[in-house]
Amino acid sequence: MARKKIALIGAGNIGGELAMLAARKELGDVVLLDIPDKEGVAKGKALDIMQTCALLKYDATVTGTSNYADIAGSDVVIVTAGVPRKPGMSRDDLLSINLKIIRSVATQIKAHAPNALVIVISNPLDAMVYEMKKVTGFPRARVAGMAGALDSARFSAFLAEATGVSTKDVDALVLGGHGDTMVPCLSYTTIRGIPVTKWIAKDKLDAIVTRTAKGSGEIVALINTNTYYAPAAGAIVMAESYLRAQRRLIACAAYLEGEYGYKDLYIGVPVIIGGEGVEKVVEIELSADEKKMLDTSAEAVRELIAAAAKL
Ligand SMILES: NC(=O)c1ccc[n+]([C@@H]2O[C@H](COP(=O)([O-])OP(=O)(O)OC[C@H]3O[C@@H](n4cnc5c(N)ncnc54)[C@H](O)[C@@H]3O)[C@@H](O)[C@H]2O)c1
Repeated sequence: MARKKIALIGAGNIGGELAMLAARKELGDVVLLDIPDKEGVAKGKALDIMQTCALLKYDATVTGTSNYADIAGSDVVIVTAGVPRKPGMSRDDLLSINLKIIRSVATQIKAHAPNALVIVISNPLDAMVYEMKKVTGFPRARVAGMAGALDSARFSAFLAEATGVSTKDVDALVLGGHGDTMVPCLSYTTIRGIPVTKWIAKDKLDAIVTRTAKGSGEIVALINTNTYYAPAAGAIVMAESYLRAQRRLIACAAYLEGEYGYKDLYIGVPVIIGGEGVEKVVEIELSADEKKMLDTSAEAVRELIAAAAKL
């Protein structure tokens, strides 16, 4: 029986962390791919992680390459190819640069890993994952974007900190596009099933919601580049749910075909990821305020996709 194979397109900050996490979780063998100019980085990180596996006793091979033929037979492809956001740069500023990159990456994935589940991380996320689906022509079950898992985790972390309760008991949900219009859903955010509104006063909760929506910018300002540990972890949770057919309920960017009243759009919603990929988009009842915020977010994503279509 062959081990599963995970291809990581982009061997930068997130790519390296993805490789480390995939190996540590023994999800399968890992191929780390970057452009020819950065092949050394891909190969070097792969060697470093292989040696870590030997130290910590994880069964996984990790190889670096710039040759797409090496991703053949991959079960999962996670895409971080692109340029990261610099301080003062919005995700949307990245659109034209990263769109060209995603188009070429998608063409290669279609040719070399036609049966893989593709998880896109590159920003601006909702437009990049839309383009990935368009160029590969893969079914919606096999193309998803990572954002909601990260945004929900960010929200959870702040709530755990504010209440002094373990993050293990915090269940937070953030929907919508991956940007300033994301929608932290208070009505579905609980601590051990107890609504978060019973734990934290409104003004403090409002401040946490705002901090969550600006969570990425807070870190960019501190480290001068985008975040990478938590984004990698978000994609690994999705990949693991697929590879181990866990059927976990995870917020991620999914292609909608009428759910929540939207069509032909990628936006963050709760989905079940199992052995078939994105098996189900779960429709939950939103409060009037939350639906209005989701509409605003969907509109922002639509504008982004329309701008991408002109490039
Ligand atoms: N979805 C999210 O929640 C989220 C969170 C953080 C960052 N991001 C995004 O993830 C992306 C990657 O971030 P990072 O920190 O790893 O950046 P990084 O610059 O460290 O790595 C990106 C890598 O992609 C490579 N690359 C560029 N063009 C390529 C191509 N055609 N084929 C293969 N590789 C190519 C680069 O050489 C580089 O090594 C950025 O677009 C960033 O904005 C998304």
